[in-house]
Amino acid sequence: MSTTAEEIYRRLHDWLLAHIRSFAIPDETTRRHFDLKRTHSLKVAEEIDRLGRALGLASRALLIARVIGLLHDAGRFEQYDRYRTYNDAASMDHGALGAAIVSSNGLLAAFDSSEAQVITQAILHHNKVALPENLSAEALFFLKLIRDADKLDIYRVVMENMAAADQALFKVLLPGNEDASEELSAILMRGDGVNYQLARNATDRLLMHVGWVFDINFRPTLRAIADRGCLETIAAALPPTPRVTQIITKARNHLAATLADGPPGLPAQS
Ligand SMILES: [Fe+2]
Repeated sequence: MSTTAEEIYRRLHDWLLAHIRSFAIPDETTRRHFDLKRTHSLKVAEEIDRLGRALGLASRALLIARVIGLLHDAGRFEQYDRYRTYNDAASMDHGALGAAIVSSNGLLAAFDSSEAQVITQAILHHNKVALPENLSAEALFFLKLIRDADKLDIYRVVMENMAAADQALFKVLLPGNEDASEELSAILMRGDGVNYQLARNATDRLLMHVGWVFDINFRPTLRAIADRGCLETIAAALPPTPRVTQIITKARNHLAATLADGPPGLPAQS
């Protein structure tokens, strides 16, 4: 009896939930951290499915994409359990940890070896500042897809946190009048990727999310960013300094130009 795509996905979904439950939850902070990444994992699986359908993927490719979305942050729970932080620089690379967990648990037995490699590489590289060289075209495609889906759901998290910013817990997230740092602004104006470690203040951290539009790979992702008002919501919370305004303008122009350029459903970058 052959296993359907839905059964394969369901088993991995159930594995992830059991894996999350296998860790002790000693306090409320831990519970909130785990809830955040559990919800994120499930939502990224939905986002990548939506993007995959918009790009016209066939059913097997859609299954691979959904599995990557579901498991891309499989390393987050052990990372938090061991180090009490999601900061990779202060703990370990959660992409590498996730790929190792997926391999050591034999989770990809339903996939042939090249499919399993594509999934593992996407998990391994999803959190790196830049795309690696020497990946196969197929591996690169799925890596670009997970990086887009991941960013879409992090925009959701950022926007939810901003909406809740009047609650004391999240106050730190919203910038005051501090300008963006010179170094980070220069990198964003070049359209380059930025590491979280470079962010000096709350303005920098939010501006990094603005700069993500330069690092989006597919037009349906940019369409979703525009339709959901991610850029505008974040822009409205930033102080209108010359540096900030320059970057927001560049991001708006990039979004508009890319969306206007050709039919929907084609990659934003070829
Ligand atoms: Fe991640």
